[in-house]
Amino acid sequence: MIVTLTGASGLIGRSLCADLRAAGHQLRLLGRRAGPPDGWQWDALGEPPPAAALDGADAVIHLSGEPIAQRWTAKTWQRIVASRVEGTRRMVEAMAAMAKRPVVFICASATGIYGDRRDEILTESSAPGAGAVARLCQDWEREARRAETPDTRVVLLRTGLVLTPDGGALGRMLPAFRLGLGGALGDGRQWMSWIHLRDMVRLIGFALEHPDVHGPLNGTAPEPVTNREFTRTLAATLRRPAVLPVPRPALRLLFGEMAGILTGSQRAQPDVALRHGFSFEFGTLAPALREMFE
Ligand SMILES: NC(=O)c1ccc[n+]([C@@H]2O[C@H](COP(=O)([O-])OP(=O)(O)OC[C@H]3O[C@@H](n4cnc5c(N)ncnc54)[C@H](OP(=O)(O)O)[C@@H]3O)[C@@H](O)[C@H]2O)c1
Repeated sequence: MIVTLTGASGLIGRSLCADLRAAGHQLRLLGRRAGPPDGWQWDALGEPPPAAALDGADAVIHLSGEPIAQRWTAKTWQRIVASRVEGTRRMVEAMAAMAKRPVVFICASATGIYGDRRDEILTESSAPGAGAVARLCQDWEREARRAETPDTRVVLLRTGLVLTPDGGALGRMLPAFRLGLGGALGDGRQWMSWIHLRDMVRLIGFALEHPDVHGPLNGTAPEPVTNREFTRTLAATLRRPAVLPVPRPALRLLFGEMAGILTGSQRAQPDVALRHGFSFEFGTLAPALREMFE
């Protein structure tokens, strides 16, 4: 297939590109620093994507967005929202102008759409939650859904916490844990819906190639864990102690509004993936972490 991809330089995108190329797909990359021979420059905060990057594409995978894991000032939050909501709108408008539309549009979203739900089990059929991130994800998904036509299916990747030692949330936690200073966040009872990077990339490939997969798709392992359990398992894997919990007020001081993401609870289940026969290489946390660190 010819696949047009945004966010190819990101945490998920880098691995995804390698997998898609290995599977024989031809890639066209859109990014702020992309360029010839197989790339086009595009900033989700600016102009619509160039038609040449889309013409003839069988699939479009749209992953770009200003990083969420940073202190939210009015300005950074505006970029977080605009790069996703307006960026997706521009992409969908450009797709609508294609002579022949792609058969599938796969767009990033996040389990943050469910809000803070304590112990409730959340599947793709669960209602969205409350809060700024949940609203952002709903607006983002609404724009993505506009790409749906009888010829184009839309997949909304409700991604959980993607685990790799090379970056993302785990990459940021590692220095403290390696020093034996890792601890639960808040009361540690919040559920973390994690997924090994390798499974996330495999799941996107699965969604690309399975014509019956459409709509929301939880990108999370079948066995989410509480933050306390996560902390214990990570510390044990690294053979380091886990120290005192980091209290909520300290988190707020350190991370501002973003602290809500660290203490919010989402116990997501990948119902759609499992129903369509996707098999996770890493269904439980301990083997996933062992694969990374042992
Ligand atoms: N990783 C996770 O745990 C996780 C969890 C839930 C949801 N997601 C979502 O999944 C998508 C991909 O995740 P990721 O971790 O691979 O993201 P990432 O590493 O932060 O990369 C996303 C890409 O977005 C582009 N980008 C960054 N800032 C931008 C801006 N201001 N305007 C336009 N483009 C910008 C960059 O590409 P260029 O520089 O090439 O343009 C970057 O490579 C994101 O939308 C993210 O929100 C990720």
